[in-house]
Amino acid sequence: MRGGGQGRFQGEPDPVAAKFSRSVHFDRRLALHDLEGSRAHAVMLGRIGLLTAGEVAAIRRGLDRIEKEIRGGKFRWKDSLEDVHMNIEAALTQRVPAGAKLHTGRSRNDQVATDLRLWLREQVAGDCAAIRNLQKALVHLAEKHREVVLPGYTHLQRAQPVLLAHHLLAYVEMLDRDHGRLADAAQRADVMPLGSGAIAGSTLKLNREVTRKLLRFARISANSMDAVSDRDFLIEYLAAVALGGVHLSRMAEDMILFSSAEFAFLRFGEAFTTGSSLMPQKRNPDMAELVRGKSGRLTGHLVSLLTVLKGLPLSYNRDLQEDKECVFDAADTFRNSLEVMARAVASLEVDAGACAYAASAPELLATDLADALVKTGMPFRKAHQVVGAAVRMAEERGTRIDRLSRDDWETLAEGSSVPAAEVLGGSSPVIRARKALQARSAVAGAPSLTEVRRQILFWRKKLK
Ligand code: ARG
Repeated sequence: MRGGGQGRFQGEPDPVAAKFSRSVHFDRRLALHDLEGSRAHAVMLGRIGLLTAGEVAAIRRGLDRIEKEIRGGKFRWKDSLEDVHMNIEAALTQRVPAGAKLHTGRSRNDQVATDLRLWLREQVAGDCAAIRNLQKALVHLAEKHREVVLPGYTHLQRAQPVLLAHHLLAYVEMLDRDHGRLADAAQRADVMPLGSGAIAGSTLKLNREVTRKLLRFARISANSMDAVSDRDFLIEYLAAVALGGVHLSRMAEDMILFSSAEFAFLRFGEAFTTGSSLMPQKRNPDMAELVRGKSGRLTGHLVSLLTVLKGLPLSYNRDLQEDKECVFDAADTFRNSLEVMARAVASLEVDAGACAYAASAPELLATDLADALVKTGMPFRKAHQVVGAAVRMAEERGTRIDRLSRDDWETLAEGSSVPAAEVLGGSSPVIRARKALQARSAVAGAPSLTEVRRQILFWRKKLK
């Protein structure tokens, strides 16, 4: 069948061409949304007098029956009918003679655009819920280990002590922006194309407001040419998903690093790791690695659709059929990644001792010491120099800065007194690091115990 245009064509399409162009094996995923759109369209045609009440009822019953068959896996999809739209319409017409009137004032061009927008609405709602779940797992882990101190890294070099909870909440923030981007994309996509026809609307007096209300869209499209050829709503979705995938890949990478013997801060539950066929001792973080790898695919799908749309003349072109496979695969890949990550995060064990030990190196407090010098009135640049020279002196002597003597400090600071013991002393390195975190409590957004506790409470309330 060629777009239902049996009148225009005499022979059968070339079999290779037919196989090349069919989409029913992937666009059947839109079936329930296609049925929903058809029901609304039929009701509208009834309201404007193009279908009798009896015809509308018969069409609705027929569509309901088809829905049941599809849900039960009993519907017979025919490759020869090309796509989901023609499969459903043909099945309906076979059962209900009035089915032949359903396509009145409608084209597959506005139909598929409508289906995709309905699909997107449902998909984004599910994605947002999956993001919330992962955020919950992260907040739960943060709360469970809220006092664990570990080094914060820049350039993957130990920088300053932070709370593990603070590190985990950084991902909660990123995910929240992903949530916002998805919701934002869904809001802009909340537009009803039906009534745009193939490109130029209809000579029939379609009541688009009726269809819009039935399908619960916020607005109707304002330009029929734009409505049938616009796919930027899918690109926005792919962009949000690609960025979400990039965030997941960073989280996965941190967890992979932190669960290596070199760090040994974290341990994934056994159920989220695999062994090696050769090396009996291995416990590989494959789930996190896959999440990291799959983010590449998500970025690829965004680039695919951008490239399909680039330079495409108005309005509908068959190229647009290439939107679905990348969007569906991106949706599944992103959702699966969110779900497996939430479970893997919930399985994480934390070695608080290893974290604290790594965070206890006195060099991590070099900036704090410079701050302490600033409080004595020394300009920061000078303080930075003094502490830098101390680090170098300790290195040259094969010792650590907390082992330098009062005389050493006085020499380094050219006579000024240095409150080194205040910052670097203390009963244990861990208590020292914790003291350093507490010293940050006046700064919003910093990793002090009080501030992080406040953040945990904020997220717990928001995610309830
Ligand atoms: N399968 C098509 C698509 O996904 C439906 C619209 C076809 N329209 C057309 N004029 N051939 O884009």
